[in-house]
Amino acid sequence: MHNFKKKQDIAEALFSKGRGQKKLFDRARRTRNEVFSNKVEVRSVIEYSNICRQACNYCGMSRESGLKRYIMSDDETTDSIKRLYGYGRRVLIIQSGEFHSEHLFENLLTLIKRMKENFPGLTIMGSFGNLSLPEYKIVKEAGVERYLLKFETSDSKLYKKVKPSDSLFNRLRHLEILKKTGFKVSSGNITGLPGQSVESLAEDLLLLKRLRLFMGSTSAFIPNDMSNYANWPSADINLVLNFMAILRILCPTILIPATSSLELLVKDGQYLGLMSGANVVTLHDGTPKNDEKNFVLYKKDRYKPKDVLLEIVARAGLKHSFDPLI
Ligand code: 5AD
Repeated sequence: MHNFKKKQDIAEALFSKGRGQKKLFDRARRTRNEVFSNKVEVRSVIEYSNICRQACNYCGMSRESGLKRYIMSDDETTDSIKRLYGYGRRVLIIQSGEFHSEHLFENLLTLIKRMKENFPGLTIMGSFGNLSLPEYKIVKEAGVERYLLKFETSDSKLYKKVKPSDSLFNRLRHLEILKKTGFKVSSGNITGLPGQSVESLAEDLLLLKRLRLFMGSTSAFIPNDMSNYANWPSADINLVLNFMAILRILCPTILIPATSSLELLVKDGQYLGLMSGANVVTLHDGTPKNDEKNFVLYKKDRYKPKDVLLEIVARAGLKHSFDPLI
């Protein structure tokens, strides 16, 4: 059995098909179930704003896209948190494009602080892009305990190509700062980026292991109509699922989401993600309906209703938990 210490072994396993692939998925599921006893963390996301100062070629919310921009009002945000808490959710992701504004740092964080006091047992994961050290500290002090910042690719040349407004060096520096600030840090890549090799994906996996995260993820590249990569082909589903399974084997104790990008690739993609070792799904029920259509990471209509996602979890033989697993 592979121990995936060598890059070459990982690259080979990324090509798994047929019986080899079935074995890989079995092992990934066993590894997950031993650690998490069949539990899947189900959380909700609030897409707070789509304003962004980055210019990622794969993303529909790039500063160069002609998208209509929004910021959720304080009332909308408060109502959303209250509603989700009422549904029993105890983990919320609050996500936005990357931007600096007083609004974000005063209104949103004050509001989060108040919500954390009023609603016991709430865990918040922030995803606001690269901020400054003082800004990270303020976010942490407001009661945000988790932070999501993806490195997207471990190949510095590819990084510059797909995300010209940033560098891999800078992104990794931010991940270190986030750890030092005391966040539970989550990161990951995109599988299937234009110009990405299988060796480079193997490096992404080794980097995910080295980073010692509490959550690691991959999203499947989806050509977004609003982005500069609108005409490139989508990721290969088998490559994405193999990536997830190897990640589970390399890092048994981390959270791994079955992202909505899988569902855009193939019908039942998120179910297949759970069958390859994932243990998290995200419900898209925190964003007001009229803003939803403007939060376009991959594509419009990436939202699956709550009941369908919970049914998928049950069908995979797993039990959903609205409480944090870690
Ligand atoms: N395909 C796949 N993943 C994408 N992301 C953004 N756009 C795309 C796309 N077209 C992912 C990036 C980003 C996260 C919020 O969404 O990894 O960090």
